[in-house]
Amino acid sequence: MNVAVMGYGIVGSGVAEVLAKEHDSIAKRSLQEELSLKYILDIRDFPDDPNAGKFVRDFDVILQDESVQIVVETMGGLHPAYEYVLACLQAGKSVVTSNKELVAEKGDELLAAAKAHGVNFMFEASVGGGIPIIRPISQCLAANELDEIAGILNGTTNYILTQMIQEGLDFDTALAQAQELGYAEKDPTADVDGHDACRKICILAALCFGTHVYPKEVHTEGIRAITLADVDYARAWGGVIKLLARAARSDDGQITAIVSPALVKNSSQLAGVNDVFNAILVRGDALGDVVFYGRGAGKLPTASAVVADVVDCARNQGKNRMLLWDGAKSAYVRDYLDCETAFLVRAESADVPAALADAERVFGSVQVLTREGAAAGEFAFVTPTDTERALRAKLGTLLGVRVLSAIRAVGY
Ligand code: HSE
Repeated sequence: MNVAVMGYGIVGSGVAEVLAKEHDSIAKRSLQEELSLKYILDIRDFPDDPNAGKFVRDFDVILQDESVQIVVETMGGLHPAYEYVLACLQAGKSVVTSNKELVAEKGDELLAAAKAHGVNFMFEASVGGGIPIIRPISQCLAANELDEIAGILNGTTNYILTQMIQEGLDFDTALAQAQELGYAEKDPTADVDGHDACRKICILAALCFGTHVYPKEVHTEGIRAITLADVDYARAWGGVIKLLARAARSDDGQITAIVSPALVKNSSQLAGVNDVFNAILVRGDALGDVVFYGRGAGKLPTASAVVADVVDCARNQGKNRMLLWDGAKSAYVRDYLDCETAFLVRAESADVPAALADAERVFGSVQVLTREGAAAGEFAFVTPTDTERALRAKLGTLLGVRVLSAIRAVGY
């Protein structure tokens, strides 16, 4: 059975490597014919590459070749990945992708196209790199009503926060270190501003709750504004700050979904997830909590997840795996301001005792936190739980207080 890879970057070249290295064991597992890499689509030249003879620049070569039954898309981005993938599915080829942007924006449509043409569209590597998460949610946890999902879904930001928490580095220094180590891109926007985690939680929410969620519907905050002072107050509270992507089902048929820095208690399973590791906590009605943990990025972990999907496609040739979710619905994702949370508030005032007394009056009661080395006039407290809208309105009424940060505290 012939395979084509579109995009020979880190993941695409890793896929070629795993296909070659694991050729024999893959042949045993795919139970039918051997898998053979026939084409690699890329506009660049790789003259010294072991696969040098397989490169093509024209997508139509792959599309028109009926012997290519499985296509791997590792180009990234939305265009032309979307057009190429759709054309492959419509031509009766199964497609495997690691492209979270593609799945988050077009997953419902591409799954429907796969079903209509009796082929498969698989994307295990789009979330959590090498951590198996898509297949366990769609198959193994099928006997559960899944209520909630919360994850550390971005390795770069988790590395930066870990350096801030454990080594006392500030955000800029930790980011520069992440770039030096090759974790963060030169333009780290998608990671540090939360967009990468947002795409991943959209995919997980669609899978868990059955309806497509577009990234633009999910309130997303990154970690650029997190300071070492926030880290210290989180420690005084008994926890750590993580970039969490969360989605939960509500009784009224809506869901909540948000990506933001969040405080988790040290006792939480998510608190001990450090460096570039990812973890995904899934809460089911029958099962309770289950946590998936591992390397969420990297060439070979991600490539191994892609190749596992290729093997699954090969084993299910001519059979659609019936993985589907509905198209997006309006008013399905609840306004994040109507969701309940508590806040760790860091603020400053010329009269801290008066400001804290005012906070007690406005919020009912607050938990005051202290840290060594706080600047004069700086203070911090944790509010009771309420809707975010109500908490923000109350914060706005505090007299003579400048709010420096408000970080959500969550109960995982
Ligand atoms: N940039 C991503 C991360 C890679 O840091 O997690 C995997 O999607």
